[in-house]
Amino acid sequence: MAKKLIIGVLASGRGTNLQAIIDNIKSGKLPNVEIGCVISDNPDAKALERARRAGIPAYYIYPGKKRTVLDPEQEEKYIETLKKHGVELVCLAGFMRILKKKFLDAFPNRIMNIHPALLPAFPGLNAQKQALEYGVKVSGATVHFVDEGIDTGPIILQEAVKVEEDDTVETLADRILKVEHKIYSEAIRLFAEGRLKIEGRRVRILSGDEVDKT
Ligand code: GRF
Repeated sequence: MAKKLIIGVLASGRGTNLQAIIDNIKSGKLPNVEIGCVISDNPDAKALERARRAGIPAYYIYPGKKRTVLDPEQEEKYIETLKKHGVELVCLAGFMRILKKKFLDAFPNRIMNIHPALLPAFPGLNAQKQALEYGVKVSGATVHFVDEGIDTGPIILQEAVKVEEDDTVETLADRILKVEHKIYSEAIRLFAEGRLKIEGRRVRILSGDEVDKT
């Protein structure tokens, strides 16, 4: 059997995207993927509990004093832990900090994020609220590679969700979340199959035949 892709998941909160990945691995929908470890910057993150319940090494690593980034020495600990577990792809799943150059350089073109809007619309926090307040009729979810900006990296997959007349932030967020759970695993599967090729800002999705030829 082909070697499995080892992913590391960084999560700050409830961890439903992590759970969807765990469930998809268990049910055979992600046959080439294994989670090496889960790391959180929040000791009480439900994501850590979910990982431990699934038998996955799970760590709280103190992020440092700043609120939106990792302190440099702490960042090093995150990188070391991921490397120690042989992580080849880092998946941000509700991780509430911006990764700086050193982290990005440690995993070049190997960090993904999921965002609850159709980027480049509504980057940053509270994307579902931003979408509702703007009055868009369609929003959705985006999986993208991570670069130095906030939600600006090359887009891998997107799926639209219709905004209903009576939507609240919660109902819209719930429907978008279902799509997130689906497309994040799809993007990871494509990566594991070697089917994602970054060409500038565009991510080309190769067919199985094209991969065989590379
Ligand atoms: C998701 O909406 C994700 O798109 C955003 O943060 C939320 C995390 O949710 N980046 P969960 O922790 O995976 O449940």
